[in-house]
Amino acid sequence: MKTMRLDKFLGITGMSSRSEAKKLIRAGSVTVNGCVASSAEEKIDPEQDEILFCGKKVIYRKYTYILMNKPEGIVSATEDGRDRTVLDLLPSDMRKTDLFPCGRLDKNTLGLMLITDNGELAHRLLAPKTHVEKVYYFRAKFPISEEDAKRFENGLILEDGYETKPAKIFLEPSGDAGTITLIEGKYHQIKRMLEAIDNKITYLERIRFGNLTLDTTLSRGEWRYLTQEEISVLEQHGKEK
Ligand code: URA
Repeated sequence: MKTMRLDKFLGITGMSSRSEAKKLIRAGSVTVNGCVASSAEEKIDPEQDEILFCGKKVIYRKYTYILMNKPEGIVSATEDGRDRTVLDLLPSDMRKTDLFPCGRLDKNTLGLMLITDNGELAHRLLAPKTHVEKVYYFRAKFPISEEDAKRFENGLILEDGYETKPAKIFLEPSGDAGTITLIEGKYHQIKRMLEAIDNKITYLERIRFGNLTLDTTLSRGEWRYLTQEEISVLEQHGKEK
């Protein structure tokens, strides 16, 4: 069924941004079943038609993968009675799909958010045994001592008795900012880890999730589709032996 716009197809498959796709279609660089496409609005059948992009066959993927730079004050949920959600930042036609945020960031945490409709992959990425690395840039109220940094690396006991898995911490010379790498994702984990050493988070931003790094060309609230390369690597997480 010819149901999808050509520029949307090129975006979803990670070939280019929608605006770039428009330019390349106008320049005659895209063919549909051997005929040069004339318009970004042309409707195609993503499963049947053969699309070449600058001579390269485009592989259709069933699922959508979006990387968003989450702003502060937005909740990572599909809907919320009170606050705006990460899905509210997408165009309205995309909100009708089955997209959801893969994992959670607190309302005041910024940065990298993966949004997808691939439930199986999301489940695998979030499963505790998969150990997907999540890297956060943080600022704390007080400098963190070497001794406390070691406690992050050895495992900290949170207020509910949970012992965290070893986390890597890198401190800037000031000691009150740096990065923390987690291989798990407990509720408010970094906030609670800082509280366990009598400190407080003042700024938190996720800068990496598995193989995905925060795209600094995206302003807060902006998003883009993952590239083919990013999708291929992401899909391998949790499959490695
Ligand atoms: N840890 C937190 O405390 N908050 C987040 O949003 C992510 C990790």
